[in-house]
Amino acid sequence: MSVFPVDLSSDTQTRPTADMRKAMANAEVGDEQKREDPSVNRLQDSVAELTGKQAALFLPSGTMCNMIGHAIHCRPGDEIIVEESTHPVHFEGGGPAVHSRAQLRTLSTQTGVFTPEQLEAAIRPNDPHFPNTRLVCVENTHNIRGGRIWSLEAVQAVADCAGKHGLLLHLDGARLMNAVVASGTSAADYCRPFDSCWIDLSKGLGCPVGAVIAGSKEFIDQAWRYKHLFGGAMRQAGIIAAAGVHALQHHVDRLAEDHVKARALAMGLAEIKGITIDVNAVETNIVLFDTVDTGVGRSTILTRLLEHGVRFSPLMESTRLRAVTHLDISHDGVERALSALQTVLAQ
Ligand SMILES: Cc1ncc(COP(=O)(O)O)c(C=O)c1O
Repeated sequence: MSVFPVDLSSDTQTRPTADMRKAMANAEVGDEQKREDPSVNRLQDSVAELTGKQAALFLPSGTMCNMIGHAIHCRPGDEIIVEESTHPVHFEGGGPAVHSRAQLRTLSTQTGVFTPEQLEAAIRPNDPHFPNTRLVCVENTHNIRGGRIWSLEAVQAVADCAGKHGLLLHLDGARLMNAVVASGTSAADYCRPFDSCWIDLSKGLGCPVGAVIAGSKEFIDQAWRYKHLFGGAMRQAGIIAAAGVHALQHHVDRLAEDHVKARALAMGLAEIKGITIDVNAVETNIVLFDTVDTGVGRSTILTRLLEHGVRFSPLMESTRLRAVTHLDISHDGVERALSALQTVLAQ
């Protein structure tokens, strides 16, 4: 359990379950770098099959998946089109500039889902003055916009536009399985238009570490090279890969429970005086809400909640808060968070 009994700050706060720990303890292992770790190989094969791609590669983090995707697809001076609040824009230390010497061009949205018209308007003409538009990235679900889902139609419309202009497509699927479970669209259908795609194991799937990137055999051969280059190649990594194999077998369908709990939290928040929330915007496990009309400052609320064992997180520079449900949040936890917030606001 987290140091905060009700830790809604992120779905990265899960701890491995007893069964997951058992799977890890019993994992068959070998030298991953020699492709001899059976558990790593099993995980990679599972993700290749899940995403409908030729091959997959286990990496230490989702950030490295994005960095490797950018590095393989882009050349120095290229431009990557992304929504303005996606992970690489804010939380990857300027990675695209550092590792790929590519720049980001951002599209504004309310929901994280941009349109083919927005994409079309951002594509640069072929002129030596301009950077070369190379890659389009989609984040599904979209974290900072509140776990919003890209529908398959929205993905396809953007993919068609990208294809028309010869652009490559990369999917940040840190929470793709939340989108899959909530929408009923298969991971393979979602991933089909993408040249590279990845899922995170250390978020809703509840693993302690890891992410898996997938693509063509040629793409994954190149990804192996970058994995070594970035210092991400491991040895008996089967110990952690086994957690991923276990999660894909046991923790996917249960994501629906996290979505139900997020919805319950949102409905409870909507009842609290001074809280502004769009309950219908809660599509998966992330809840965004505004406390500005409660008359209590955001940081005061967050600090006082910690005294009740409840942790939310601030949503960047806005006045909003963010709560994320996950494996270690029970229905009681949701109730406890709501009543702690009421107590804190009444103080
Ligand atoms: C949408 C998104 N992409 C990428 C990442 C990076 O994943 P990791 O923490 O595994 O590096 C995160 C992590 O929060 C995320 O939310």
